[in-house]
Amino acid sequence: MAGQNTIGIRLCIYSLLIKWYNLYDMKHVILDTDPGVDDVMALALALASSDLKIEALTTVSGNAAVEQCARNCQLVVEFLHPENPPPVALGATQPLVRPPLTAHEVHGPDGIGGITQLHLPDGLRKYPEPTLSLDPRPAPQLIVDLARDLGERLSLVTLGPLTNIAQAIDLDRSAMRNIGEIIVMGGAFKVYGNTSLVAEFNIFVDPEAAQMTVGLGAPLTIIPLDVTEQVRLMRGRIDSRLEAAPSAVLELVRDVSAFYMDYHREHDGFDGCYMHDPLTVGMAIDHSFIRTVPTVVAVETTGELTRGMTLAELRPGRLPELPNAEVAVEVDAERFIDFFLSRLQETMKNAK
Ligand code: RIB
Ligand code: CA
Repeated sequence: MAGQNTIGIRLCIYSLLIKWYNLYDMKHVILDTDPGVDDVMALALALASSDLKIEALTTVSGNAAVEQCARNCQLVVEFLHPENPPPVALGATQPLVRPPLTAHEVHGPDGIGGITQLHLPDGLRKYPEPTLSLDPRPAPQLIVDLARDLGERLSLVTLGPLTNIAQAIDLDRSAMRNIGEIIVMGGAFKVYGNTSLVAEFNIFVDPEAAQMTVGLGAPLTIIPLDVTEQVRLMRGRIDSRLEAAPSAVLELVRDVSAFYMDYHREHDGFDGCYMHDPLTVGMAIDHSFIRTVPTVVAVETTGELTRGMTLAELRPGRLPELPNAEVAVEVDAERFIDFFLSRLQETMKNAK
């Protein structure tokens, strides 16, 4: 009998050690986000990834007003109902010095493709209003608290304007500089902008915050339109996966992206959508999807026509000696799309 007890105790210790090691070995991540249709798909990928521990979801004014972004974030978290939902915090209501700018023409009236208006045959909401309460801390404070706790074990992934990041830098520059990596979806270097001729939305909305972020000195990786516009999820890909096997999370992807794909069909000439934010989360999971180069990035904040333009030396043989960022220049788009769809389908079986 005593021998069995000893074996039982040993098994218990081993399982605790394995849990501790996995937790220690996982990548601790904050997603700063402005849901936003592609943000929703990025959230689903992050929540489906056991190699990430999502420490917090911090919301910022961008595609929609920050209160709407926070509600959208909570709705997605509750629908996908991971065992222990990460805290959702409310962030900046507007950019550091400029008026807020939203993108409802792209992301729909509720910011997430109108899925809040979808109902089941019994009349109930297909994606119910969230009931989770927000974290009491403002987003910049939550970011700083986690930066102080986790330091270089923390990965900060930004999917919206950088206002929260700039305000966190103002709160504790030293803690923010010690973060392990900051991965930013934003910018346009060798391609046109998507908000002005030269500027990408996240940077255009708050160029001053972007300038503070590139000047921070933390390990920074930028995922610009140069690569994200090569990654297109076609409407037919989702439909064919759903015909092969039902999946609540792929149904969410189909429902949330319909409005966004209509916009791309009309403005960009293809029946699908760019995967800006999901690719950025993909970079946090596996750097091999993307090739980056070290360079110095600058952000235009004073130009009337060039506000939010991102500039960097990307010519081979001329890369600067003291870089402030890694900029993504190539992407394995097809492999990422397959990865995205498969990971969601395989792991999010417990969505409602
Ligand atoms: O320019 C694309 C970026 O702006 C994406 O993050 C999209 O969600 C919007 O925030
Ligand atoms: Ca976004």
